[in-house]
Amino acid sequence: MPIYILDKTFVLETKNSHYVFSIDEQGYSHHLHFGRKCSVDDYCYYKAPFENTNHTKRDMFTEEFSFFGGTMYRECDLKVKYFDNCREADLHYDSYSVSDSTLKVVFKDKHYGLKLSLIYEIFNDFDIIKRYSKLENESKFDTEIERFYSAQFNLPDESPYKFKNTNGAWGAEFLETETTLEGGCLVFESRRGATGHNTSPYFIAHQNANEESADVFFASLLYSGSFKVVASRDVFCKTRVSLGINDFDFKYVLKSGESLESPAVIAGFTKGFGNMSREINKFSISHILPKSFSKKELPILYNSWEATNFDVNTKGQSTLAEIAASIGAELFVMDDGWFGKRNDDTKALGDWYVNREKFPNGLSQLIENVNNLGLDFGIWIEPEMVCPDSDLFRAHPEYAYHYNTRQANTIRHQLVLNLTREDVQEYVYNSIDYLLSKYNIKYIKWDMNRPFSETGAENLSCPQALWYLHTKAVYDIVDKLKEKHQSVQFETCSSGGGRCDLGALSHFDQAWTSDNTDAIDRMTIQKGYSLMRPVKTMRAWVTDTVGYNKQTSLDFRFNIAMQGSLGLGGDLTTYSKEELEICRKNIALYKEIRSIVQFGNLYRILDFDKDEILFNLYVNDEKTQAVGFIAARGTRFYRKSINLKFKGLCENKRYEFTFDNEKYEKSGAYLSSVGVAAKIIGDNYSRIIRIFAK
Ligand code: GLA
Repeated sequence: MPIYILDKTFVLETKNSHYVFSIDEQGYSHHLHFGRKCSVDDYCYYKAPFENTNHTKRDMFTEEFSFFGGTMYRECDLKVKYFDNCREADLHYDSYSVSDSTLKVVFKDKHYGLKLSLIYEIFNDFDIIKRYSKLENESKFDTEIERFYSAQFNLPDESPYKFKNTNGAWGAEFLETETTLEGGCLVFESRRGATGHNTSPYFIAHQNANEESADVFFASLLYSGSFKVVASRDVFCKTRVSLGINDFDFKYVLKSGESLESPAVIAGFTKGFGNMSREINKFSISHILPKSFSKKELPILYNSWEATNFDVNTKGQSTLAEIAASIGAELFVMDDGWFGKRNDDTKALGDWYVNREKFPNGLSQLIENVNNLGLDFGIWIEPEMVCPDSDLFRAHPEYAYHYNTRQANTIRHQLVLNLTREDVQEYVYNSIDYLLSKYNIKYIKWDMNRPFSETGAENLSCPQALWYLHTKAVYDIVDKLKEKHQSVQFETCSSGGGRCDLGALSHFDQAWTSDNTDAIDRMTIQKGYSLMRPVKTMRAWVTDTVGYNKQTSLDFRFNIAMQGSLGLGGDLTTYSKEELEICRKNIALYKEIRSIVQFGNLYRILDFDKDEILFNLYVNDEKTQAVGFIAARGTRFYRKSINLKFKGLCENKRYEFTFDNEKYEKSGAYLSSVGVAAKIIGDNYSRIIRIFAK
């Protein structure tokens, strides 16, 4: 797919869209178009708007990347302070270069030797553009960067857009929100040090889209630190959105000869939210997730946390592993409690050596038992943290972020390690490297259970850089560990789903979605997750958790958990023979459908929150197989007889399936327009339909 350059107009062509911008006579950038393909010759050179004292040109521009300086009064993407206290950038177009599928456009502030590169990458077969920005200091002096977002996007229509994001909390991650932006600004951000449970580092803008139709514009940051997404609509009805590292308490000193790359952003334009999610899903598998496992099916895991909590030992864990193996699990993960003096959450984070009271002979015996059952072994760790009551903290109190004059907040009895220090980075890397080298560990659940506070970092001459440097250090350590231990999978967890964004998923193979495993709540949480994150990374367990007044059957819980990467987390020692048989049957089924769920295309057909019925259909790429999940409880207003209409199948193909003991053979066209009659009754309505092309 080409990049066209017409004088100073740049046209990036994706599978179905054009992204176009231009440079004016003064060297400013102007966005022209993001949407359907037009004839390339039609894109004309930009003409600057008429200006007066009330409406300055720069304020009206639709720049690709804006900077503070001159008559710029809006939210802009860059704010600097030069060595002589000049606080304005004055960047003008300098040059461009193209290599393969990447375009680089360079702007320079000649007086102060600041170089800004806007870098765009396009991908075969995808309607996605990847963008990031780079600053280089070509002067002899330091330049202070006070704000450096990754990119700005200008939306085409003058009518207001609706912005989807999430408004979540622990146990209630990814709850969707939608806000219409008529004027002013809309901000989605985290100031916590990590992405957090509340908002998501992306924007999804539309006017009247639904799952399958109307324009949707979206962009997501590949970054899991404190972030900011700012959308605004001005009096000229222009809607712009910028995304990047949060500028709140941020500063970075760019020394002579140094450079700084912003986190990347991926952006796209699709018809409907369904296409957006499917595009993100496929794109993540091909271009975001770490390569070692991106194209492999993820294993069915059993995690013992909810069964044993901190009470772990060889015997108890081996017993659980035996039962897990007998029902078909493939990986056994021991969670918190195996290290230091960790008998509850009040102590020992940081002491990453085996607790000899619980495991007198180390972990070898347990791992051998687990491996002999045919299961891989995985372990929990929370490497960025330290408990005040730990050997690590007693030896190195200076390792935690702190101010000597402030009382540290010890929420969950823990402090955040200052990962901007090289010695702390080495300690964390060496602790995990030691475990992975000594033991046959194939899975790390990397947790991060508290937000930052009292972020003093004496080692940094510019401590406001810590928010960025900490996240970078996490990524670097994970990458280095993955490089050395290539067969080990990494899961990102942060008090449930507090750090599972596309940035984290560029380094971790999967995510712990939420500590809330109640199947009814999970329908909503998982829907929000699937909007902008790849399905296969969504760890979903069947557990014994059922919310107040929300009893669900084991089959029902499997139905919901099988819609991501299946896991189990209940106390299997309490399961009856019949319950274990239900587990066995569902796990066997999941093994048959796993590749369609993890690598197929998700059609969200009925939404439990709006329709009282959940109907999600996963279709393989060839459209020869599909699996549908239907779940409901106690539907109201006699809405129990409905026609289930399928999406994503091939109109001309004929499909066979059995549903409620009846055999069907119908064309894709019939199934999408007429559908199949279903009687949705009972408190635990749960069906899984497997569909095969003839
Ligand atoms: C966090 C995680 C849980 C579990 C506990 C262990 O809350 O989200 O899944 O690992 O920590 O302490």
